[in-house]
Order: sequence, then C-alpha cells, then structure tokens
Amino acid sequence: MQLPGKVVVVTGAARGLGRAIALAFAARGAEVAALDRDGAALDETVGQCTAAGVRAKAHVVDVTSEPDVIRCFDAVTADFGRFDILVNNAGITRDALLVKAQDGVIHSKMSLAQWQAVIDVNLTGVFLCGREGAERMIQCGHGGLIVNISSISREGNPGQTNYSAAKAGVAAMTVVWARELARYGIRAAAIAPGFCATDILAAMRPEMVGRVKAAVPLHRLGEPAEIAATAVFIAENEFVTGRVFEVDGGLRL
Ligand SMILES: NC(=O)c1ccc[n+]([C@@H]2O[C@H](COP(=O)([O-])OP(=O)(O)OC[C@H]3O[C@@H](n4cnc5c(N)ncnc54)[C@H](O)[C@@H]3O)[C@@H](O)[C@H]2O)c1
Repeated sequence: MQLPGKVVVVTGAARGLGRAIALAFAARGAEVAALDRDGAALDETVGQCTAAGVRAKAHVVDVTSEPDVIRCFDAVTADFGRFDILVNNAGITRDALLVKAQDGVIHSKMSLAQWQAVIDVNLTGVFLCGREGAERMIQCGHGGLIVNISSISREGNPGQTNYSAAKAGVAAMTVVWARELARYGIRAAAIAPGFCATDILAAMRPEMVGRVKAAVPLHRLGEPAEIAATAVFIAENEFVTGRVFEVDGGLRL
C-alpha cells in the first residue's frame, strides 16, 4: 500500500506506542485521525503529525462505547473522505494474581472489576473499532488494513489472566478478520510487542522491570518506534495478512 494520502486511524494515540505509530505513518505521508480518551495529550500527537506536513485530527473517544465509536468513525469519514487503515492500539492493564494465598490463607483475588475493565478496553474495544472500521472501509470502496496490537502476554503471563485472555482474543480475531475481509480487499494483521518503554510499564515495580530486561536476550526494552516500524511494514507489504508479528527482543514468557 502506498501511504501518501491514505487515512490512518490510530486508537490510544495520545502517548506511547499509539503516538509513535501515528507519527510513523505521518512521516510516510499518511493523514492521521488520532483517537484517545485523553484529549489533552492527544493534541500533542496531532501537533507532531501536523509538523510532519500531513493533515491530522484529534478525536476524543472511549473505545468501549459503541455510540462513541460509531460517532467518531462517521466523523473521520466525513472529515477525510476515506478510511484506509485502522490501528487498534488502545489498551490498559489491571494486573493481579488469580488467587493469592500463603499457608492456606487467601490474601487476594483478581476482582471482577479488574477482569472486566481489561476485557472491555482490550477485547471489546478492538471488536467494536474493527467492526466499524471494516464497515467504513467497505463503504469507501478502496480496500484497507486493520493492524491489531496484541502482546507477548497472549501466550499466558502470570498476574495477567485478564490481559493475556484479551490479547489472545485479539490475535484470534485478527486471523478471523483476515479470512472474512479479504474478499473486500481488506487485510488484517497483528503485532505482539514484548516489553516496551511506555507509561503502561509504570504499573510495574522498578525491580520487575529490571528482571524483565535481564530476561530479554537483547537486554533492553523495545522502543515505541520499533513497534511503529512494524506497523508501517505491514501496511506497505500487501502480501501480509492473517499473521501476528512478534517484536520482543527474543523474550519468551
Ligand atoms: N508497552 C508495552 O510494553 C506493551 C507490550 C505489549 C503490548 N502493548 C500494547 O500496546 C498498546 C499500547 O500500549 P502503550 O504501552 O503505548 O500504553 P500507554 O498506557 O502508554 O497508552 C495507552 C493509551 O490508550 C488510551 N486508552 C486506554 N483506554 C482507552 C479507551 N477506553 N478509549 C480510548 N483510549 C484509551 C490511553 O489513554 C493511552 O493514551 C496496548 O494495547 C498495550 O496493551 C504494550
């Protein structure tokens, strides 16, 4: 896919991987619709995209809300006149052990609220945006691409029952969409990042981050730009669909 003039919609674009992905597409000449529930930080992303010389617009949206997503995607299509690429990146963590006990005494459990919050954003949000994005791509008639951000945790990471389940679901949805949507000229692929240097790691204790780095064969965290480069590769290589790309410094959980 030639990126100049194409319209890319990036969720969770206010910071971290989403901002890096928005900027990488802007640097290739794509127009950017930057979506997030954090409007203030979103403006910074849009300013940086505009500075790269492309049209960019901020949309404050909660990806868990069906009316929000529909309203926002209608506005994107009206603003830009097309809808070529969706990057489903918005995500959260609410880590906890399933059950924590010592000497037979139960200390804590993952709450239903922790489970549901992560499933709502990381799984249902991806479903809603993917469905609404695919509909608009079909209506626009130019084909398109959906890139889903999964995670290395989809293999099953202790402390992340909720997150691992959601990210495994995202990888599975990607395969389904690649097969269902190919007839409309729409591709779907996913990226499973390893641990990357973003705010999402703020939830981890510093000693845990140190232990993670030591376990990564490359002995460092990933840079957001390295994940963004993978998204651009997927967009530009039109033989890619239905696959999950692992970008993790070689770490196996
Ligand atoms: N950083 C990592 O180590 C890492 C590793 C693997 C996968 N990931 C995934 O990459 C994606 C981006 O992660 P990040 O590290 O940049 O996180 P981040 O916390 O830095 O940014 C996530 C963004 O998503 C937005 N967001 C959260 N809930 C939202 C909602 N309901 N509606 C709209 N926006 C919402 C937040 O406001 C935030 O701006 C996530 O899906 C995450 O699970 C991250």
